Amino acid sequence: MTSQARYALAKPDPQVLVIFGASGDLTTRKLLPALASLAARDALPEHFSVVGVALSELDDNGFRDLGRAAVPDAPPSWATLTDSFRYICGHYEDATTFATLKKVLEDIDRTCSTQGNRLYYLATIPSLFPILTQALKQAGLSNPPGSGPFTRIVVEKPFGSDLDSAIDLNVMLHECFDEHQIFRIDHYLGKETVQNLLALRFANAIFEPIWNRRYISNAQITVAEQLGVEHRGAYYDKAGAVRDMVQNHLAQVVALTLMEPPAAIDPLGVRDEKVKLLRAVELGPPHELSQRTVRAQYDAGVIGTAAVPGYLEEEGIAPASETETFAAAQLHVDNWRWAGVPVYIRTGKRLAQTVTEVVLEFREVPHMAFKAHQARRLEPNHLVMRIQPHEGINLAFGAKEPGESFNLRSVDMHFSYADTFGVAPADAYERLIHDALLGDHMLFLRADEAEQAWRIIDPYLDAFAQGDPPLSTYPAGSWGPHEADILLARNGHEWHNPAP
Ligand code: BG6
Repeated sequence: MTSQARYALAKPDPQVLVIFGASGDLTTRKLLPALASLAARDALPEHFSVVGVALSELDDNGFRDLGRAAVPDAPPSWATLTDSFRYICGHYEDATTFATLKKVLEDIDRTCSTQGNRLYYLATIPSLFPILTQALKQAGLSNPPGSGPFTRIVVEKPFGSDLDSAIDLNVMLHECFDEHQIFRIDHYLGKETVQNLLALRFANAIFEPIWNRRYISNAQITVAEQLGVEHRGAYYDKAGAVRDMVQNHLAQVVALTLMEPPAAIDPLGVRDEKVKLLRAVELGPPHELSQRTVRAQYDAGVIGTAAVPGYLEEEGIAPASETETFAAAQLHVDNWRWAGVPVYIRTGKRLAQTVTEVVLEFREVPHMAFKAHQARRLEPNHLVMRIQPHEGINLAFGAKEPGESFNLRSVDMHFSYADTFGVAPADAYERLIHDALLGDHMLFLRADEAEQAWRIIDPYLDAFAQGDPPLSTYPAGSWGPHEADILLARNGHEWHNPAP
């Protein structure tokens, strides 16, 4: 079964999608392929058109060619859609760009029956967000909801660079758009297996009773990448692993894994519970922050069989850069369910594997009746939720090995997403663009969520700026610096590194 044959998707209302940054990397690599896949699944609106806006010297035909080139193996429905693409070449600071956009949109409404409905997608660098939103408002293109046609806006991360700038960004967005019009995208929420965390937790009676401090000794969340900084050195060197990954993707996975059950799986229910959880996350006392945090940078090493350079030798990186490419921390969730349970998080570039997983490690039995030598191959019971790749769930528990002697070892009970459903999960952008077209907010961040995540992150960033903890190094292709192991060893815990 192909991904196209998966299941019928709802058809959104008629509308025009306007992409700012239409000739950029995000548009060609993610947005256009996602639209092509939705077109193939007959999941785009009956009356629909795409307008690209950017600085690049293109015309309608140039943008149509770009659309076709971005999705080389697309079905005929994509060729038909790209034939209707429109393009506006212009500066975002120039009011005529938006006057032209207005005319083009009115023209499309007349010829394509798109009924005045708009979805704007800000696929630009963040410094352009204020300029774009103000310009849309001034051009009369940001109608509040409830007055006939709808106007929605998708905003890409990063949502600010610290708590203050995130608050400023939200204030600025709210000057031009109502919160109901805003869709802050974190592509991790579009991943099938991230959503599956909700299914596992809240559709199964067997897990809920043990999902708490009485049964769980620690939680581990790993987002590891083999990739380095690729061609994004200049951006990454300013951002670092905490801003690039922890504030958004890791914070979201932590929230979905540990939040309370919502009354309903809907935008209000899920987002309220995520915010409550993030509000309960504490780093511990400020003087202990450096003992509970690790930051490091990769040195040259080997990934697979290829020798790769160290971070400081990558293109676009300042010669004496102190930017972290690896971060690990021990968090605490100060609430009734999780008090006293360490939550370890780690992320890094150029690690041994590309893998995202959540591991819940269970407490030991209250009394070990087996002898130490019988149980020496027994690991603590643990539940692994593999988000990517090889999406699935694994429960590791102890069993008796065959034979006369009573030797125990850990064995696995495994659910594989691909084996069970026979399909590869859809791309996260496909899911999220479809939801934005439908106006469904559940998998998008609310203003307070983005701010709560920065509240957690800000103290780290302040400490890092003071050189605290000192920056360590790790060889590319390893599981990170030794300090990350010590972080857990202090509490008698160990990282669950997936087998190669
Ligand atoms: C992006 C980060 O948000 O997520 C990148 O900016 C990172 O640095 C990427 O590589 C990881 O996403 P995924 O879907 O490949 O795990």
